[in-house]
Amino acid sequence: MINPEQTSTYKLAVLVSGNGTNLQSIIDAIHKGELINTEISIVVADRDCFAIERALDHDIPTFMVERGKEFEQQLLELLTDDINLIVLAGFLSILPTSICEKFHQRIINIHPSLLPKYGGRGMYGKKVHEAVLANREKETGATVHFVTPEIDAGEIILQEKITIKEGETAEWLAAKVHQIEHKILVEAIRLLQQKHYHEN
Ligand code: GRF
Repeated sequence: MINPEQTSTYKLAVLVSGNGTNLQSIIDAIHKGELINTEISIVVADRDCFAIERALDHDIPTFMVERGKEFEQQLLELLTDDINLIVLAGFLSILPTSICEKFHQRIINIHPSLLPKYGGRGMYGKKVHEAVLANREKETGATVHFVTPEIDAGEIILQEKITIKEGETAEWLAAKVHQIEHKILVEAIRLLQQKHYHEN
């Protein structure tokens, strides 16, 4: 196992649209030493959201991009070559193909279901958990996967399951799945950091 302390800083860009609890889990893991020699170099939001406050509270350079015709260009300017990994942490916009190609196998997403089930266009947030309950699934969970131009279809990196109990609501499931997300997102970053050091 490579000691990340003896290698160069692993630079993350975290893209957000919402509350930012997954962003917070990365910030906390860095502070607690669970992610070593890792920095969040930039946070990019595609709308006004609480995640921006979390980033600014920790003095992380934070930018807002506008959805529309300048979207791709703005992202290309912000996501510079020195970024090792782009983390979509509740980012609701679809990434332009040019970004997926430039950062091939270097973009990950966290999704609140056991992909390939309950993924794809329109499957986000509460809708995922409502669909899981409507189909009387016995289990659900969260998935970290690589991002490709096809929505939620890239190679799976980590997945963790929970059992659905009788009478559980979409809100309860969302809360339980969120806990798993925070854990496996940090684990996936650590895994990819190790892989990066092995390859470079
Ligand atoms: C999470 O459920 C994640 O799986 C999905 O968006 C949500 C973001 O939550 N992609 P938060 O903003 O990190 O709290």
